[in-house]
Amino acid sequence: MTVESSPRRAVSLQTQADGTQLPIVRTVKDLRTQVSNWRSKGDRIALVPTMGALHQGHLSLMRDGRKLCDRVIATIFVNPKQFNRAEDLQSYPSDNLQDIALLTELGVDLLYMPGVEEIYPPDFQTVVSLPALSGCLCGAHRAGHFDGVSTVVSKLLLQALPDVAIFGEKDFQQLQIIRRMVLDLNIPVAIEGGATVREADGLALSSRNRLLSDDERLRAVSLHKVLSAAVTAIEAGEPVVKALEMARQHLSEAGFTSVDYFEVREEQNLTLFDGGHPKSSLRIFAAVWLGSTRIIDNLPVNPTRSPM
Ligand code: PAF
Repeated sequence: MTVESSPRRAVSLQTQADGTQLPIVRTVKDLRTQVSNWRSKGDRIALVPTMGALHQGHLSLMRDGRKLCDRVIATIFVNPKQFNRAEDLQSYPSDNLQDIALLTELGVDLLYMPGVEEIYPPDFQTVVSLPALSGCLCGAHRAGHFDGVSTVVSKLLLQALPDVAIFGEKDFQQLQIIRRMVLDLNIPVAIEGGATVREADGLALSSRNRLLSDDERLRAVSLHKVLSAAVTAIEAGEPVVKALEMARQHLSEAGFTSVDYFEVREEQNLTLFDGGHPKSSLRIFAAVWLGSTRIIDNLPVNPTRSPM
């Protein structure tokens, strides 16, 4: 792979061995120049924000973008504001060359890869915060995490102003926070959720999976199994509280070091659900630890067949 760039060139081109190229911009100004160029031709634009360490889950979001729009922009920015532990930021996987090769192969139209100072200049002050939706699930265990996510995503959306932005359902709480945020702030971008992509054994793809040891990877598969069993039990009429109790027991037998949460919530407002008549669709959410790696997953629950 060769890189063509110079301080005077706004766009660098990453060329693969087979000659395919991926334009890369690093500033808001250059991003906007490219976007307005496409807009003047009437192109619709999809944005897929990522923190890199790309896997098939991300690539599936890019393909969704391609189906919905004429142009697909990927972003790679490891957002320091959404890491509440310094060691988590330091250990976050990163492989820019591999990411660029994957995006080039896929035919993404542009990669926006800003530096930290482009996103957070020294006098940066603003925090975008959605306290209610951010206060539960991952937000209750990672102080400030979702303020960091909503702040950076609002910036990326306003910088690119795409027609559509796509986020994975694996981070369902994040998706709901972003949906609420664009409504609250009148950001004129349609937010789409992309289906979770799984390994053959059911493990949801995540950049963090590469931090798992061989033994942890073997045990990780139980998370999806336990979630699926809980869904089956609830849909068959088992009381939610009882199904969750059983699930926690199975998680501990499967060797998860600890469980941050294993809960059923309403999708719309993420209100905790333990029985009765939900106001919106239901989803079961889990976050568990294997050694020093935290993995999360969620599945829809459809209890319409059960009396509850
Ligand atoms: O899901 C992620 O990778 C990040 O939270 C996001 C949306 C790119 C914001 O940094």
